[in-house]
Amino acid sequence: APSAPRNLIFLINETALFLTWSPPSDSGGRKDLTYNIMCQRCGASGGEEDCEPCETDLRFVPRPLGLTGTSVAILDFATHANYTFHVETVNGVSGLGGNTRPLANITVTTDQTGPSLVGVVRKDWASDNSIALSWPEAEQQPNVILDYEIKYYDKEQEQSGYSSTRTKALSVIVTGLKPSTVYVFHVRARTAAGFTAYSDTFDFSTGDEDSGMAADHGQVLVVVTAAVGGFSLLIILTLFFLITGRCQGIIKAQLKSEDKRRADFHNAPPFPGIKTYVDPDTYEDPTQAVHEIDPSRIRIERVIGAGEFGEVCSGRLRTPGQKEIPVAIKTLKGGYVERQRRDFLREASIVGQFDNPNIIRLEGVVTKSRPVMIVVEYMRNGSLDSFLRQHDDHFTLVQLVGMLHGVASGMAYLSDMGYVHRDLAARNVLVDEGLVCKVSDFGLSRVLEDHTEPAYNTMGGKIPVRWTAPEAITYRKFSSASDVWSYGIVMWEVMSYGERPYWEMSNQDVILSIEEGYRLPVPMDCPGVLHQLMLHCWQKERGQRPHFNSVVSFLDKLIRNPSSLLTLVDNSFPESPEDMPGYPLFISIGEWLDSIKMSQYKHQFLAAGFTTLDSVSTMRIEDIRRIGVSLIGHQRRIVSSIQSLRLQVLTVQHNGFHN
Ligand code: ADE
Repeated sequence: APSAPRNLIFLINETALFLTWSPPSDSGGRKDLTYNIMCQRCGASGGEEDCEPCETDLRFVPRPLGLTGTSVAILDFATHANYTFHVETVNGVSGLGGNTRPLANITVTTDQTGPSLVGVVRKDWASDNSIALSWPEAEQQPNVILDYEIKYYDKEQEQSGYSSTRTKALSVIVTGLKPSTVYVFHVRARTAAGFTAYSDTFDFSTGDEDSGMAADHGQVLVVVTAAVGGFSLLIILTLFFLITGRCQGIIKAQLKSEDKRRADFHNAPPFPGIKTYVDPDTYEDPTQAVHEIDPSRIRIERVIGAGEFGEVCSGRLRTPGQKEIPVAIKTLKGGYVERQRRDFLREASIVGQFDNPNIIRLEGVVTKSRPVMIVVEYMRNGSLDSFLRQHDDHFTLVQLVGMLHGVASGMAYLSDMGYVHRDLAARNVLVDEGLVCKVSDFGLSRVLEDHTEPAYNTMGGKIPVRWTAPEAITYRKFSSASDVWSYGIVMWEVMSYGERPYWEMSNQDVILSIEEGYRLPVPMDCPGVLHQLMLHCWQKERGQRPHFNSVVSFLDKLIRNPSSLLTLVDNSFPESPEDMPGYPLFISIGEWLDSIKMSQYKHQFLAAGFTTLDSVSTMRIEDIRRIGVSLIGHQRRIVSSIQSLRLQVLTVQHNGFHN
């Protein structure tokens, strides 16, 4: 029989509880391990007698039983509650003898959140695929309410998951619903102290398809009439036109986006219950509008770069009664067509939904005058890849891991929001004066029309191959797990101070090498645990890659215990030539040095007796220094490339990192 799972831990946020564990030390000699989760909810006394099973009260993603991975997300837990979870290892012969079950146990006390601040939720109107809701303002608010989250699901299909949306107003129009279908809604407020509890649930139905808008009008009139009682006909008619005008806009946007929404369905986030990101192409939610800035408040100072749509400038933004702040201003150059304007502003409607210290902050947009602009916070140190290239070898390991921690936190936030970035790379991370890293460059169109990174073209779209997971390249399966792969590449870029992943290999060679199981080697001076984590992010099976949340907590532990960073792998050259997979890519020393733009060292290599690639691949750092490769940057490039001569076959030692 197998032994119990190891290292069971939990992570909790306002909506989800994650359990993760490592496989048992003894699999019982079989490969068919799965895990079952059992749950007990216990009262305050802590006594056994005060506990009851709770599997049916909670939602487990992907499921409670027969899990093949080593993590599960749990939703719908109560606040102020004690839960004990048992994770059991099961294999094909479990239950055939042995009387102790291989269980790991953990008790979780869910956080205290405030009482619900939202009372009755009302349906104002419905069309065949949208429902407008509103609720009264909370009477006594201990904290300022930042916004509201509306969670909803199809009553008949609860198991297929939740959707959610957010609004700052006391109302929302939920779109993208099915006709004649009952949905369950509940609403909670978010204050500076976090989310409050949810309101009660409310069931509302969409209208039926055939009667279309006519049915809506009827409903609107009934609601409005009931609500306003004796108010004058004029007010009723005004409301009527306002509401129907709004409706038509929504319906139109929906017709346009219906196909896209179907296509996106398969890209649902790993934990659908906590999706809060709203695709600007999919929904038209008037409450999500981004802030329009009066252009007289903006002072453009200088051009700092070229964006896809026009110049990027630095400047200042004045806000009455506040200090001027430095900003970056992306402009849309004149002569654009409507589609370009929409694609340009798409980025703003995405970034405007995010609020996280590791995501670039949107200050607002200028759309009502020319030029059209997107204004974001200014990041003094520019993009991470060029910043590191300019400061080769200048940072401590803790500083580098701190940068990676920032990127991972930003990405954890995005993946919790259900947003898939698709173009995570060091060039798309910005660095501020305090070395804080923030993820930027949103808006898929940029990926599809990327000019800065020569891209591989598959089925009509362009993809930054070196950063992209194999399943995303081959069948466009983009997900948070493919973002995790890209994150592993960013780790490698950071630890090698901005080296180009896979150096000068062609995209086609990169794809083939990855397919054969080769992976980037450990960068010079990089701690072994970090390379283990990279390899973990580059697992072929996307389900086996870590989640961003576990990457964050892992890096957090490294930073708190920096001695763990001291084990380097710079002696990790292969033990014997048989360990090496061969050198399909380069033929002579000259060609090899050419390929890494280091031909100036050819003479030194030959003079020191390194005449074959075999001998080069056994060189140690001392040898490289000795033959006179002394410039730090060159040395790093040569070491990395020597290691790439034996791009390693993926080996993840499970003692290094646990998902
Ligand atoms: N380049 C592109 N965006 C930038 C920003 N927000 N700050 C500084 N440089 C940038």
